[in-house]
Amino acid sequence: MEPILDSTIEVRSYLGPADERTLADDVLDGLTRPLKELPPKHLYDARGSELFDAICELPEYYQTRTERLILRTQAQTIVARTSAVELVELGSGSADKTRVLLDAMEAARTLRRYVPVDVSETTVHAVAERLVEEYPGMSVHGVVGDFERHLTHLPSPLGPRLFVFLGGTIGNFPPGSRRRFLRGLRKVMGPDDHLLLGTDLVKDPRIIEAAYDDSAGVTAQFNLNVLHVLNRELGANFDVDRFEHVAFFDRKREWIEMRLRATEQQHVRVEALDLDVEFAPREELRTEISAKFTPERLRSDLAAAGLELVELYTDPNKLFTVSLSRLG
Ligand code: SAH
Ligand code: TRP
Repeated sequence: MEPILDSTIEVRSYLGPADERTLADDVLDGLTRPLKELPPKHLYDARGSELFDAICELPEYYQTRTERLILRTQAQTIVARTSAVELVELGSGSADKTRVLLDAMEAARTLRRYVPVDVSETTVHAVAERLVEEYPGMSVHGVVGDFERHLTHLPSPLGPRLFVFLGGTIGNFPPGSRRRFLRGLRKVMGPDDHLLLGTDLVKDPRIIEAAYDDSAGVTAQFNLNVLHVLNRELGANFDVDRFEHVAFFDRKREWIEMRLRATEQQHVRVEALDLDVEFAPREELRTEISAKFTPERLRSDLAAAGLELVELYTDPNKLFTVSLSRLG
């Protein structure tokens, strides 16, 4: 007889009118500051998510292939150590590298459920449909939401869970929000759960800067895409051709900053906010930071959130690290 497979899909969205307000509030807040700024989550509309996937394939963007290599080398050990039956992934995106972990859980015969959490609705749906087919017997419970606000909506655990947060996305929080986020995450974790966190390491700034300013200009397009988002969602009239992509490593703060620089003086109207914004020639708008870590910084950030480092896995060139931690 054929085995009865209980694969099911459920996707819940927690984004609503309040989130349109978030975009509006963020833009009003950010564009009226002396140093103009926008929070990075608005980079990831459908087009932005596609461009990000293209970034991951770039020769200069070492993070993705390095993290994948670390995961391939360590997946079996991680799965054995955590006994996880469920994988909860924050900022799951296209969940490409996640398959390495799901494969190991499947091989260990522990895999029961995958819970992708992402603000990009199209991505969560696509991933849910694809993975439920690729892993017979596994169910998918997708959460379309903001990982800074919606972690309380995770389904109740089926057993020990492996929380994963890959791609160095933790580096995109400013330091204060990073700690707040880790504390919030710790609150939803139980004593049987583990966190697997991917972080980019401090290294030669030339290597880092090239990763965020590739020669094919894909990163520039990704960054500029946020202006298209504002034009579409808030009736703004940014002339995207009159902005350029800037990426530089701040050695003191050990983070890279992405900015958009106005190539000339310009006036922008944001209709939905009844807002007029002036850009001086060469004025910059900060769109994202990406913090680079030392093992010490990582350990202390985790400890400040009540998490204890269990193991730290690195590649031979010490470019990137994947850490495993649990409640301290
Ligand atoms: N994990 C993938 C994707 C990283 S890109 C990888 O390692 O390659 C960052 C992902 O986080 C994107 O898919 C983006 O849509 C999502 N994201 C960004 N800010 C978010 C937020 N506040 N809440 C939920 N998801 C977010
Ligand atoms: N989490 C990714 C990182 O920090 C996001 C990213 C990669 C990114 N390249 C970018 C964000 C360029 C803005 C612009 O590496």
